[in-house]
Amino acid sequence: MNVPKFVHSSDFCASSNSKVVVVTAGARQLKDESRLDLLQRNVDIFKNIIPPLVQYSPEAVFVIVTNPVDIMTWVAWKLSNLPVHKVVGTGTQLDSSRFRFLLSDRLGISPSSISAWIIGEHGDTQVPLWSGVNVAGVQLRDIVPNIGLPTDYEKWHEVHKDVVRAGTTVRCLKGYTSSAVGLCVADMVDCILRNVNEVKSISTLVQGHHDIKDEIFLSLPSALGEEGITKIIRMRMTEYEKKLLKISVDTITNAQKNVKV
Ligand code: 2OP
Repeated sequence: MNVPKFVHSSDFCASSNSKVVVVTAGARQLKDESRLDLLQRNVDIFKNIIPPLVQYSPEAVFVIVTNPVDIMTWVAWKLSNLPVHKVVGTGTQLDSSRFRFLLSDRLGISPSSISAWIIGEHGDTQVPLWSGVNVAGVQLRDIVPNIGLPTDYEKWHEVHKDVVRAGTTVRCLKGYTSSAVGLCVADMVDCILRNVNEVKSISTLVQGHHDIKDEIFLSLPSALGEEGITKIIRMRMTEYEKKLLKISVDTITNAQKNVKV
């Protein structure tokens, strides 16, 4: 097994000929700051780092972690001039993992046995696809018909509220989040390097999908391999979920429209 070799350098050429470039550079959320509040500071950072990283690794798949990750992935793509499938954001893969974990806690079943997806913004307007949550093909909505809705008497929607609060909760406790998003990145890098084309809820250009007209990045379940995103899965959604996705689209479109790349 290859022992990883760590090279620390402030010289971009140290990253030459990388297969994957993971970008986490950016300002950190301060107390009461939202992920979107970081935007212009991090755009300015990206203007300085993305072009040289692409120059030294023009064949790499770029994995963007920096928040607000959906817009920062769009910024990275615009600055890179790479094919869009080569620039992907961690997106709501992190939220979907948290969602499965919290569901597993309530169901007493391992997270790996629960199919549960969150799409849209990696942020407050993320969309839990309750209509698709299932264990071994058994749809939870067949058991609790209005699951995830405010009218759901079993209050399953509280599970998703904890997902949305997770980032803030961890930041309050230790000042920043790192482990969960780090595991997500490691999983994505493994998927790319082994070319496994596993489906993950990751941030990609969604223009043209689900009647989205804007040039924005949001998370949809997508297959990830050595060439980056190879397929985007067309999810079936309820009318309520489509409305929630529209809120996500409008939030990112409005935040992104003033960004000067
Ligand atoms: C999180 O939710 C870093 O935004 C990331 O932990």
